[in-house]
Amino acid sequence: MNRRISTSLLAADFASLEEEIARVSTTDLLHLDVMDGNYVPNISFGLPIIQAVRRCSNLPLDIHLMIEKPERYLEDFAQVQPEFITVHYEAVTHLQRTLRAIKELGVKAGVALNPHTPLTGLEYVLDDLDLILIMTVNPGFGGQKFIPTMVEKVKACHGLIGERPIELQVDGGVNLDTIGLLAQAGATNFVAGSAIFQAQDPQEYMAKMRSLMG
Ligand code: DX5
Ligand code: ZN
Repeated sequence: MNRRISTSLLAADFASLEEEIARVSTTDLLHLDVMDGNYVPNISFGLPIIQAVRRCSNLPLDIHLMIEKPERYLEDFAQVQPEFITVHYEAVTHLQRTLRAIKELGVKAGVALNPHTPLTGLEYVLDDLDLILIMTVNPGFGGQKFIPTMVEKVKACHGLIGERPIELQVDGGVNLDTIGLLAQAGATNFVAGSAIFQAQDPQEYMAKMRSLMG
């Protein structure tokens, strides 16, 4: 499977979103962190901002919903025709139904797991999944420190996925120091926000990431 970089716009300067997106134009996907101040302590942005992103870029969008009961908003977010909509394992009661609903909207379905959430249960919904997101920090904020024990979890998840065409995404504290380990553990999709936007030359930084991604 092609390994991909998904740049998180959470670390961008929202006053110049169009220019910020141009600075990361060689990314494979744009990662959009929607936070509701309930499921996670922080509030970020919602559909109007994502629509604005869609107007200034043709890059595939990767929407990470850190919200309670995300099933209420799937149709709204599907309007921008993202490649992925990812919901949190801990925030939905009927995960399989929610994944089916995402796919019925013509969007690939992802599930995200907090650091302490076990992989248990995912084995029953693998056929409905296009992406598994292993959170490598506690969700809610950019710029946090990577949790090293997540490398073992990525390995276990890689084993669970086997040969299935499911992307294994990691998110939180991904940078040039951590990406190699994660790639070796089997991650195929790397979300990074602050590391890319704080680099003097984000395009050069992504090229370095690619050289370590395997
Ligand atoms: C955290 C978000 C991340 C965040 C990552 O809750 O899900 O996508 O933007 O930020 P960095 O790369 O700065 O750890
Ligand atoms: Zn995210």
